[in-house]
Amino acid sequence: MHKGMDVISALQFSRSDIEFLISVAEDLRRVVERGGSLDIAKGRIMFTAFFEPSTRTRLSFQFAMTRLGGVVVDLGPEEVSSMAKGESPEDTLRTVDGYGPDLIVVRHREPGFAAKAAEICRAPVINAGDGYNEHPTQALLDVYTIWRVFGRVDGVRVGLMGDLKYGRTISSLSYALSNFRDVEIHFISPRELQPREEVLRKLDERRVRYEFHEKPDEVLERLDVLYVTRLQKERMKPEEYERLKGSYVITYEYLKKFRRIPVIMHPLPRVWELTPDVDVLPQAMYFEQARNGLYMRMALIKTILGL
Ligand code: NCD
Repeated sequence: MHKGMDVISALQFSRSDIEFLISVAEDLRRVVERGGSLDIAKGRIMFTAFFEPSTRTRLSFQFAMTRLGGVVVDLGPEEVSSMAKGESPEDTLRTVDGYGPDLIVVRHREPGFAAKAAEICRAPVINAGDGYNEHPTQALLDVYTIWRVFGRVDGVRVGLMGDLKYGRTISSLSYALSNFRDVEIHFISPRELQPREEVLRKLDERRVRYEFHEKPDEVLERLDVLYVTRLQKERMKPEEYERLKGSYVITYEYLKKFRRIPVIMHPLPRVWELTPDVDVLPQAMYFEQARNGLYMRMALIKTILGL
């Protein structure tokens, strides 16, 4: 990790990068929870450009920068910018980059878009999701959440369930986990939604242990974490969605059948795949996970701005 770097892929993070960011996030958490305020990013400007919908990622980045004492400028919805007149996102970014932001956070439906943005822009670019490809900052907060629950990441057994093919949190989290020792990844999905070949190839290169399962039942009691994801409706053919819809639903009733219930995580938003009755379980960690995103993104901004 170094000042001024672009964050495009979770493959960029080493174990020591992740451990460093976790320790910075923990320090910042202590300050914020004590009610303290920070002004280390005073005078710095972060530009957030979300060309695809977002709640948590956009707002936690904006809260994070604000909490650090910096300023946020947001692109706003498509209707109010020149995108509505047909301007390309590339031109929009080039223009705003010329106004001199210290950092740009970008999300776009096209895989590889963040890398392209990093070439266009002078300011460091953070990938906040590029289509089905990657979501590296989500992976950081996911690993941070695992670390906070278990006190370690080595040796964790993680079940990744749902849309493993089009879900960008899956590829990035798998890459981040590949830095740790004796991690087991269990991919739980219908055959047609298994992770893409290029993702599996990277995991093979990194000698990660993984298995495939079509149903959660067969592996649930062996897991430390069950990471549920929604079907990426916007990235599939409508008939594919209709066919697979409802294929995996985690409910309170379902989990209660097991002797041992793993920690339940979800990047959110959830639709039907994780029902709200699960929220009462002490293992339900997804809102905590979302909150961890604030501290992890503060840590990342602080590091990239060299504060
Ligand atoms: C995820 C995303 O955008 O990839 N959401 C998020 O950032 N927390 C997951 C999703 O949309 O399913």
